Amino acid sequence: MQKNSSIKISHTGSYLPSNIVSNKKLSESVDTSDEWIYSHTGIKERHFVTDECASDLAINAIKSMQCDLSDIDGIIVATATPDFNGFPSTACIISEKLKMSSVNTAFDLAAGCSGFIYALETARALILSGTCNKMIVVGTEVLSKVIDFDDRNTCVLFGDGAGCVLVEKGDCILNSILGCANDGADKLYISRNNHIHMNGRAVYTFAVKAITDTIKEICEKNNLSLEDIDYIIPHQANSRIIKAASQRLKIDESKFFLNLDKTANTSAASIPIALDELNSSGVLKDGDNVIFVGFGAGLTYGGNYIKWKN
Ligand code: ACO
Repeated sequence: MQKNSSIKISHTGSYLPSNIVSNKKLSESVDTSDEWIYSHTGIKERHFVTDECASDLAINAIKSMQCDLSDIDGIIVATATPDFNGFPSTACIISEKLKMSSVNTAFDLAAGCSGFIYALETARALILSGTCNKMIVVGTEVLSKVIDFDDRNTCVLFGDGAGCVLVEKGDCILNSILGCANDGADKLYISRNNHIHMNGRAVYTFAVKAITDTIKEICEKNNLSLEDIDYIIPHQANSRIIKAASQRLKIDESKFFLNLDKTANTSAASIPIALDELNSSGVLKDGDNVIFVGFGAGLTYGGNYIKWKN
């Protein structure tokens, strides 16, 4: 137990745009079907923005936390779909729009669908180093703006949304594993014409191994057995990936919290959105062992371990 490396998640929030697009609706314009999408991915519907951008979704998620923003000194935004390509960062736009005058550290972080995992570990390091005291970590995506609706292999998979947490010093144990495959940059990318391209088979194989290895490594690092884990919140990409990982680990699939049937894959936003749904349902108890695990473009992967405290 690493007491001196502790921070805590004190609030969670999320926001999904109001426009819901069902598989049936999508199949009116794409050569696909509700049956194919649901049986291959577990997705039933997704939310798409009409005219909002990543900062708008993030601001709604932050407001949903209903917490005092006056003493927050840091914002990290994990996103692949920032308001601007390059600069300014979406984090600075959020800070300005919310008039968060105490913020002194604001930046975006790009690690694909692993972005929230990377951002949470970065926030932990910044708080423990004394650079920041209270930080908001956001995952926000408007993937509908980079979906190629002529590519049925990918356009059915993604959705828009934002999720966030407020982190500060505390006695949750929190440590992480971050990883990078070093040979997968061409497997999943947004091209210069702003469309998502994916080698689905390669990502599937990578994802199952990444989830399995990361969970085992977190357990070893924290002297946990697989039975000690109460909840795993995985990146919500595809229910078949989760099923394969749970079978490989020989752990009950029900330990994995999934809400992708309603959200589809919201990339860096998927874990904090799922966390907020789980937390709001009131099932998380003090002392629960919670693992976030993700994988994504890069190819990257990683996990965070949290000893939950309400
Ligand atoms: N509707 C109908 N048919 C489709 C669709 C669709 N939306 N998409 C593909 N097909 C067809 C293909 O054209 C192919 O037809 P063919 O055999 O006549 O050529 C057939 O379905 C099978 O295609 P496969 O690619 O072999 O389908 P597979 O069973 O592998 O499933 C999937 C595809 C779901 C993408 C799978 O590869 C997968 O789970 N990959 C993991 C990647 C993933 O989930 N990525 C999410 C984003 S990445 C991330 O979050 C990090």
